Amino acid sequence: MISALPLALFLVSQPAAVTRLAAGSCYKQGEPAPAWATINRYNPDAFLFLGDNMYFDTNESSGDFDKEYARMLEDAEFKKLYATKPIFATWDDHDYGLNDSGVEYPRKEEAQKAFNKFWKVPASSGRHSRGGIYDSTMLGPEGQRVQIIILDTRFFRSSLTRQTEAPRGYLPDTDPAKTMLGDAQWQWLRQELKRPAEVRLIMSSIQVISEQHRFEKWANLPLERQKLFDTIKETEANGVIFLSGDRHLAELSMLDAGVGYPLYDLTASAINRSSRDWRMVEENRWRVGGLNTGQNFGAIEFDWKQEDPLIRLQIRDEGGDIMVQQKIRLSWLKAGKIKPRTP
Ligand SMILES: [Fe+2]
Repeated sequence: MISALPLALFLVSQPAAVTRLAAGSCYKQGEPAPAWATINRYNPDAFLFLGDNMYFDTNESSGDFDKEYARMLEDAEFKKLYATKPIFATWDDHDYGLNDSGVEYPRKEEAQKAFNKFWKVPASSGRHSRGGIYDSTMLGPEGQRVQIIILDTRFFRSSLTRQTEAPRGYLPDTDPAKTMLGDAQWQWLRQELKRPAEVRLIMSSIQVISEQHRFEKWANLPLERQKLFDTIKETEANGVIFLSGDRHLAELSMLDAGVGYPLYDLTASAINRSSRDWRMVEENRWRVGGLNTGQNFGAIEFDWKQEDPLIRLQIRDEGGDIMVQQKIRLSWLKAGKIKPRTP
């Protein structure tokens, strides 16, 4: 899933604990992106690419996936990151190939081949033999395990219901036949959530918690979003933290979704596609911190030495300053932290 040598070393060198990860999304290849140098200076153990990793569909090129991926490496700082750090990647619509597209996208198999090639997915990976690019990895030793769960919210996703009037956007659709992940990925996710781990970072590309805006989000398929929460509850999966991108804004959202502990969604967007100007924040009743201007990346830091390990969820600007931070105790991410609600 990355330059093979660093990933191999990273996995072989376990069980070193993960201490800091960086995450980001929405990188327009061929355009300046000072965030890459900042991320290299931050020196994370690995980088989590949350989708829209490059913009395939907005280029007036011949529409060659390999060519557009290769253009990412024209940025010397990204090239350095690619060559020296493990990168765990999902995709979103723009690197999948078409704005807001899903299961119907005709070039999706071609897109998957190019994805696997550029992110150096090992030949043994199921990502070559199955549809979709979902995957998981377990990092760190027992007691300090960080499970990276990469969701694919594109390859199987049913069509969304468009708002008929301007502005452009989508309406919640409760058709039970519609799916976000597809049957095979849902079954796989259920098994993954049963594996023992202390922390589970679920990379979703689109936002899981924020639900009031009109753009793409899990809340556009409310039954599927509820299924996600129910699956976490039924598998008794502790330690879940969502990571998302896509939105050209950065924020941290938190919801009591009935799983017994708070579910956080750290949205880190964009590496170089956010508004540089000030803008009004959008409605999000679950936001606990946000950044309404500028390029950014996410950081997740782990202090395992403390008796109750500390997790820092951060949004950093392209200069590296911490703009949003929430400090979470590992013990908070277990059922029982939030008492069941009385009807
Ligand atoms: Fe997107």
